[in-house]
Amino acid sequence: MTDALVKEEIQDDLMHRGFARRDLARIAGLFGIGAAVATMGRPAFASGGVPDPAPEAKTRIGANECWTGPLMPGQQAAAKIIASGNRYSPHDERGDFIKAVMAVENVPYDHVAPWPGSSDPLCRSVVTYCSPERGLVTADPTFELAGRTAQWLKVPVKAVPLTKDYTHDVKGMLAADPNAGLYYICTPNNPTGTITPIADIQWLLDNKPADSMVLIDEAYTHFAGVPTASFLVSQRKDVIVMRTFSKIFGMAGMRMAFIMTNPDNIGKMMRYDGGMQSGALPLPSLACATASLTSAALIKARREEMEGVRAITLAHLKKKGLDVKPTAANMFMIDWKTKPAKDMQAAFRKQDVEIGRSWPIWPTVSRVTVGSKEDMTAFIGAVDKIVA
Ligand SMILES: Cc1ncc(COP(=O)(O)O)c(C=O)c1O
Repeated sequence: MTDALVKEEIQDDLMHRGFARRDLARIAGLFGIGAAVATMGRPAFASGGVPDPAPEAKTRIGANECWTGPLMPGQQAAAKIIASGNRYSPHDERGDFIKAVMAVENVPYDHVAPWPGSSDPLCRSVVTYCSPERGLVTADPTFELAGRTAQWLKVPVKAVPLTKDYTHDVKGMLAADPNAGLYYICTPNNPTGTITPIADIQWLLDNKPADSMVLIDEAYTHFAGVPTASFLVSQRKDVIVMRTFSKIFGMAGMRMAFIMTNPDNIGKMMRYDGGMQSGALPLPSLACATASLTSAALIKARREEMEGVRAITLAHLKKKGLDVKPTAANMFMIDWKTKPAKDMQAAFRKQDVEIGRSWPIWPTVSRVTVGSKEDMTAFIGAVDKIVA
């Protein structure tokens, strides 16, 4: 099929799903050259009155990044492949990466698609499965990118508060829009770090309409070390499991991620750019991710390092009588009660500590990322100065 015919087919599909002709330019903007996606991928920093992460802050625990760089086998593989960088693909490195995912996650080859970061497939899943007639359902609070993409596309969004245990209220999510195009589950959830049980996700899958999709964003799963949902993708067509290398793997700036889902879904998500984003990935990022993903002992050691530092930090905060919510990942929520989170963020910035943002549903609660031991010692020192 020629490019023109492919474009026409995509346009017909979008209009058939209820998008107006005038919305098509917006969608093209989203996937045109990736620039719009990159901008949209930054809401992590855009809200809460913070213009950008403060790269000059000495202690940076605001953006849920890892406190250190890629695992050593990944760094070595990335450095080694630079010498072959004249070739688009010296030896099918993309295939090697997919084989590593197959080995670790036990999914078939054609069920895996790598991507340069998970922000892109996250935006793409909204345009692929939602429309003005088939909305998006998310939790509140959760990672905002899906919701913001939907708003940009004028897709109806329902944001359903978490349960009292800070898990996704899957029954409430289905009731909020029983015919949504996409249900977004982030587990561990950003910003709370809490896990939604697989049984709840399965309930949602079994009770939603067969033609709607569930996207399970497991960006932080290695920090929690809990069973993942990847086994679902070989069993059913209506689920996408998404991972990023921006968190425990310390590769946020190297841009690597992947989705696991039925090949038909991969095809649908790729068609907006002819598979370009997924097909042409930087070699050092691919090589680094492949070597990192299979380094099980090092991943475990990194998780345990984070857990140790988190335990010391939370014990100090609780001893001071501060209200810290439960977490299973490399972030926690702290409720300052009488003080707006934005003011607290500004106060920490004065101590050279950049903490995370807040969410409108909880205006006195800040997200703090668990950094290195040194980072958290600086954070605790700042807490002791700011909170009497
Ligand atoms: C839950 C969640 N999903 C996806 C992303 C996007 O990450 P990236 O585009 O770096 O893979 C983030 C980043 O903070 C996140 O927290």
